[in-house]
Parts: sequence; structure tokens; C-alpha cells
Amino acid sequence: RQRKPLVVANWKMNGDQCLAHQVSDSLAALSGSLPDILICPPVIFLPNFPKHPHYSLGAQNLSEQAAGAFTGEISAVMLAQAGASHVIVGHSERRTLFGETNQQVTKKVEQALDAGLKPILCIGETASQRSEEKTFQVLAEQLDAVYSAQPQWLEASVVAYEPLWAIGTGNTATPEQAQQVHAFIRQHLTQYSADAAAALRILYGGSVNAGNSEALFAQADVDGALIGGASLNAAEFAAICLSA
Ligand code: G3H
Repeated sequence: RQRKPLVVANWKMNGDQCLAHQVSDSLAALSGSLPDILICPPVIFLPNFPKHPHYSLGAQNLSEQAAGAFTGEISAVMLAQAGASHVIVGHSERRTLFGETNQQVTKKVEQALDAGLKPILCIGETASQRSEEKTFQVLAEQLDAVYSAQPQWLEASVVAYEPLWAIGTGNTATPEQAQQVHAFIRQHLTQYSADAAAALRILYGGSVNAGNSEALFAQADVDGALIGGASLNAAEFAAICLSA
């Protein structure tokens, strides 16, 4: 494979210390050729999360500001100090439930990179945008908002394609649907850097489980996955990692 797969667990606002140990133990027990594995628990669990060379830790969100009077916010530097190497940016739940705009997402990517964190930029279309055949247009806008002014950011980024109709619905994209969109994303990004686009890891997210992951990972431009619900089951998450 040209790109080493990356499998990411996004616990969202779920889990506890007990799950941290279960997941750590299951991943530590794996052997053979493993993908890069990243666990993004709620940020409060980062400092004491058990460590093991089989996985790294990430955060689910960050402040768009560097520091200051922003009650309740957490900066990129703080996340790095707490043990994060990556941070999810612009997850659809942030965009939809918390009103994050493309402009804020761009500022967050900048904060992440300034602190040495790798951003995992999430993009995706709604069901109605798909049925209106606007998928590529929406994704292009989400990508261009971040990379058109700062094409060099692409090199340090990961992109996650998460169609909103597939998140938490059990209604996963077919491997063919995922491949078609991932190929579009990579092609679209060649305008910023052909080399960075070729090296970019593009993850699929949306109802990935141990039963469908292998077929998704078999697609040429699917370089891993961003996993919500199924990442809360330590054995299932380990099985998904092994299928990558
Ligand atoms: O970040 C993860 C995605 O939102 C997918 O969630 O696997 O529960 O569908 P899900």
C-alpha cells in the first residue's frame, strides 16, 4: 500500500476510565502488521489514558483561539501537553449542533498546526445534498475553505469523509460510494499539491463496523476510517484495526 492505513476511534461524549483500559488492553494484545491507530476519547481522559506503542491519542475538538478569556475552551497547546498528537476538526456534529462554520474550522486547523497537532479535517454532505447531486460541490467548498489560502497545510493533514446520512445511522456508504468520493477528494486536492494529495490519508466515517470495514479498506483511496459507535466496543474496535 502506498499509504499506511489510519484507524481512528472517536468516542464522542461516551466512555470512561474502564473503557480506556479495555480498549488499551485489546489493542496492546494485537500482533502482526497493524495500521496506525488513534484514540480520541473525551479530553478529560487524555492525561491518564494508558499508553502503548500500538496507538496514539487525539482530541475531538479544540479552540480556534490560542489563549485568553474564552471560558470553557481548550487550546491546541493544552491538548498537545495532555498527550494528543492529532485533533479532529469540523466534525459534522460540531458543524450542525454547535454551528461551526468553514471559517472557524479553518482557524482551528491553523491552531492545531501551530501547536504541532495533526488536524483530521471532517467533511461530508447531507442526504438532501446528495440527492440533489451537490455532493462534490459541498465537499469542494469545505476543502477549499481550508486549503485554498494555505495549500501547505495539506501536507500535515488527514481528511475524513463522513457523509451525514451515514453517521450513527447504520446506513454505511457502500465501498463503491466511498471510493468514488475519496477519488474525487484526492483529485480535487491535486490543485494544491500533487505530492501532498497523493500522500494524504483520506478516512471514511459513517457506521463502520467489524462487518463492513474490510470491504471499505479494500478500496484504493480509502486509507482508514473514523469510527464512532463501534469504537466503544473494545473487541470490535480491535477487529476493525486488524482488518485495515
Ligand atoms: O466520528 C465518527 C463518525 O461520526 C461516525 O460515527 O461510526 O457512530 O456512525 P458512527
